[in-house]
Amino acid sequence: MLTATGQGTADVAVVGAGPVGLAVAWRCAARGLRVVVHDPAPGSGASHVAAGMLSPVAEAYFGEHELTGLLAASAARWPGFAAELAEAAGTGFGYRTEGTLVVGLTSDDLAEARRLWSYQRGLGLPITPLRPSELRDREPALAPRVRGGAVAPGDHQVDPRRLVAALRVAAERAGATLVAGPVRELSDLDARVTVVAAGCGAAALTGLPVRPVKGQILRLRAPGGGPPGFGHVIRGYADGESVYLVPRDGGEVVVGATVEERADTGVTAGAVLRLLRAAVDLVPELAEYDLAEASAGLRPGTPDNAPIIGPLPGRPGVLAATGHHRHGIVLTPVTADLVAELVVTGEADPLLAPFTPERFAGHRRHG
Ligand code: GLY
Repeated sequence: MLTATGQGTADVAVVGAGPVGLAVAWRCAARGLRVVVHDPAPGSGASHVAAGMLSPVAEAYFGEHELTGLLAASAARWPGFAAELAEAAGTGFGYRTEGTLVVGLTSDDLAEARRLWSYQRGLGLPITPLRPSELRDREPALAPRVRGGAVAPGDHQVDPRRLVAALRVAAERAGATLVAGPVRELSDLDARVTVVAAGCGAAALTGLPVRPVKGQILRLRAPGGGPPGFGHVIRGYADGESVYLVPRDGGEVVVGATVEERADTGVTAGAVLRLLRAAVDLVPELAEYDLAEASAGLRPGTPDNAPIIGPLPGRPGVLAATGHHRHGIVLTPVTADLVAELVVTGEADPLLAPFTPERFAGHRRHG
């Protein structure tokens, strides 16, 4: 069991001040540990462009059973985590619980969406098909030609930029210190335990097989400063494109996202065109919105699309909390809670068994 030190050496060094790193820092500091978080530009990684869908059901894909279980476990923690964080930080972060509509524009799109939600229903996940009239009653802003859809009432959303700001306040109020500088080698850190929550940067620091997966994403703004004309998150299939629309309180709508095996952060005209066409086909009023931002970020992908959480083999005192790929925001509570538990008690929760770094022992390059 790790007990708090006095002066000098930190108990825990966290590398990375994104949502996962800051939540780990908050949870560890709240348990009395002396925590230092290192990041040259806090909150500037994948979370800066993330949409913030808390989507354990609509994002449950074929062949990802273990990841689906972890998504559900983390989503179940979100209400409590959000309430505690709002209290600790004294601020909101756009946590909304209207649910998600999954919709298909054409009959082919609907067939694709239905195939996936049938699989999700087969797993016992809460997603319910709707008649077209029920769909439009819930969201009149949907285009009349949308063929049909389903509702996933437990798939929620949060604003990742505001989440990072709140986590930073909560971590600092709990006693964590933020050092705004890069970490080149883990051996440079003076701490009893190091948690590597550096997203794609974890590869160079640990040798773990984390690769950048580019996502281009847009932010639109409703005209006249009003709220968007729809309240659910919309996960849509439109003429073969997959798109999501996330409405925010302040009038923003996030339209995302490409998934590209590339490591640059350029924004391309073709991606903007495809995202906007799909968005406007599903919700025509979006054509009247301002295009406020077009950006790209790098998700930390892994060979099996699942995160890497737990002790690094052969590196005593080093834990990984990375590789969250498309699910970093929804997986923040479970990652933070279980990593803090691991740090404090040395015990790994059985939930983490499928996600240990050991599963990539054959892939590891020693960094
Ligand atoms: N979580 C959605 C995305 O990665 O695009």
